[in-house]
Amino acid sequence: MRYNEMKREELIRERNALLEQYEAYRSEGLKLDLSRGKPAADQLDLSMDLLNAPLAAADCVVDGFDCRNYGCPWGLPSMRRFFGELLGVPAEQVIVGGNSSLALMYGTISRAMLFGLANSPAPWSTVPDRKWLCPAPGYDRHFAITEKMGFELIPVDMTPEGPDLDQVERLAQDPAVKGMWCVPKYANPTGVTYSDATCRRLAKMKTGAPDFTVMWDNAYAVHDLADRGDELANIFELAKEAGNEDRFIAFTSTSKITFPGAGVSAMAASSANLDAAKKYLAVETIGYDKLNQLRHLKYLKNAEGVKTQMARHRALLEGKFRILEQTLSRDLDGLGIAEWTHPKGGYFVSLDLPDGCAKRTYELAREVGVTLTPAGATFPYGRDPRDRNLRLAPTCSTTAELGIAASILTVAVRLAAIEKLL
Ligand SMILES: Cc1ncc(COP(=O)(O)O)c(C=O)c1O
Repeated sequence: MRYNEMKREELIRERNALLEQYEAYRSEGLKLDLSRGKPAADQLDLSMDLLNAPLAAADCVVDGFDCRNYGCPWGLPSMRRFFGELLGVPAEQVIVGGNSSLALMYGTISRAMLFGLANSPAPWSTVPDRKWLCPAPGYDRHFAITEKMGFELIPVDMTPEGPDLDQVERLAQDPAVKGMWCVPKYANPTGVTYSDATCRRLAKMKTGAPDFTVMWDNAYAVHDLADRGDELANIFELAKEAGNEDRFIAFTSTSKITFPGAGVSAMAASSANLDAAKKYLAVETIGYDKLNQLRHLKYLKNAEGVKTQMARHRALLEGKFRILEQTLSRDLDGLGIAEWTHPKGGYFVSLDLPDGCAKRTYELAREVGVTLTPAGATFPYGRDPRDRNLRLAPTCSTTAELGIAASILTVAVRLAAIEKLL
């Protein structure tokens, strides 16, 4: 029965029964965690051959470059081809970075602040009331970058097809709005993949700023959890058709393919934007770690190799997502207090509760030993205006831990909802 149709006495009875379960969990002294959006150790074990493969001196020469030495600053040609295949662009449109795509994103915005991008009338730091669009719920580390760079962060609602483009098109008319964050495939945390129509509209829309930039973070490009994963349109083709090639800068990495923090990252952009970036990157570094590029090439080889690797990840992850889904469904279906996403890929499930219940649920879960991503973290400035969204990360727990943590979560959700109704 839906909670909002229950009489007061019924709700009190339900609450008392839940409190009994809750106290039983407390007495167990548990320490569980649904906040870590990272691979578990068994997933990391998959990639040990990347480290263990012996390398003779002759193996270190790739495409005519000795990976043990300086040189080849934009990445080994084979590695640029590798990422070009993943991102759907020619190798010349790719720069291979270091161990973190987030660092490439930070660098891109820093350069725009100091020097401007290819189409910038002036460096962004000279725009006093600069603003940035933040589809939310979204990724807190994205929001943090543009917050630190002095942008006013403007939240944009997420829909099942991507950001609400009526809002985006209206807001982007303002020349002080310099760009937006996008995780176009299996978005963190909603799992949404942008529809073709969304991509087309983003590519075409009119913007007030000539250098309006979409930070296209394709972190989960190959992270399917279903036989038929989502397909993402090729944003660079659409942008070219629309005459807005410079609008999109794409990022990805092997963080959740091999080793987070020790993988290889890449960015893709128009030749004008890549040329602008190279001018300053060439001053910043003599080149990134080509030995790691070499190890990744030997281990993953190409898009087909990545597919095989991702199938192995999927085999380890599917069961975890299933347990979370089944527990949420078992305990919350029909109560009218929760909606959650059913992602076909990525690392997260996004849970929406009645307004004003997310923080309380977080606290109730924490009290009995379950750590959740703090309520609000998925919104700019850490403030969820409706205090209703929680990001759940099932990957890093064992299946046994996950079953218990999810059961505790649902008790916390129900208690918070009843408190609100009473
Ligand atoms: C959307 C998104 N982008 C980027 C990252 C971090 O990527 P990297 O390890 O390449 O810096 C994450 C990590 O969780 C993420 O969820």
